[in-house]
Amino acid sequence: MRREVIQELAGKAVVRQATLRDARQICALVKANPEELMVRALGDIVRNIDRFFVISASRRLLGCASYTILPDVGDYSSATVELRSVAIRSTHRGMGLGSHLVDAVIDHIRRFHAGPIIVLTYTPEFFAKSGFERISKRDIMHKIYSECVNCTKHGNPFTCPEVAMAYAGEGKPGGK
Ligand SMILES: CC(C)(COP(=O)(O)OP(=O)(O)OC[C@H]1O[C@@H](n2cnc3c(N)ncnc32)[C@H](O)[C@@H]1OP(=O)(O)O)[C@@H](O)C(=O)NCCC(=O)NCCS
Repeated sequence: MRREVIQELAGKAVVRQATLRDARQICALVKANPEELMVRALGDIVRNIDRFFVISASRRLLGCASYTILPDVGDYSSATVELRSVAIRSTHRGMGLGSHLVDAVIDHIRRFHAGPIIVLTYTPEFFAKSGFERISKRDIMHKIYSECVNCTKHGNPFTCPEVAMAYAGEGKPGGK
C-alpha cells in the first residue's frame, strides 16, 4: 500500500470495542505474530470478545488488543489486569496506532479497576511510551504460576526474554 494512503488511513483510525464480527480478523492478526504473541484459538477470542478492542480505519481492521483479569486471592478490589494480544498490522506500524490503541484500553481498564495493569513483552520500548515501567517477575508470581508454567516456548519464566512491566499510573504489583 502506498505511504500516503497509509497515512490517510492512520488519521481516520478509531478505537472501538470488538464485536463478534471482528473475531476471525483478530484471530488472523494474533496468529500472524507467533514470535511475540501467544496464539489464541478462535473459540477463545469469541468467548472473550468483550475484552477485545480494535483500531480500524475505513472499516479495515488495523490492530487489536485485549486484557484479562488475573486470578487473585485476598483484596479483589485491586486485582491485577494483564494486557494481551496487542498487534498492529505489519503494513501500518510506526504510525502511532499501537500507542493510540493501548492508551484507549488503559482508559477503559482504569474505569473499573484499581489494581496494577501489567504486560509481558519483547518490546518494552513501545509500552514505555504509554507509561509502563519495568518490574520484577517475582512481583507477578500469580501470573507465573497460572500461565508461564504452561509456556511451550521457554522452560524457565525467569530466563525467558519477555520483560515484565506495569503501568506507572496505577499501583505496582507487590506494592499495591
Ligand atoms: C509493538 C506494536 C504493537 C507497536 O505498534 P505500532 O503502531 O508500530 O507502535 P507506535 O507507532 O504506536 O509506536 C509508539 C512508540 O513506540 C515505539 N516503538 C514501537 N514499536 C517499537 C519497537 N519494536 N521497538 C522500539 N520502539 C518501538 C515507536 O518508535 C514510537 O515511539 P515515538 O512515540 O517516540 O515515535 C507492533 O509493532 C506490533 O504489532 N508488533 C507485533 C506484536 C507485538 O510485539 N505486540 C506486543 C507484544 S505484548
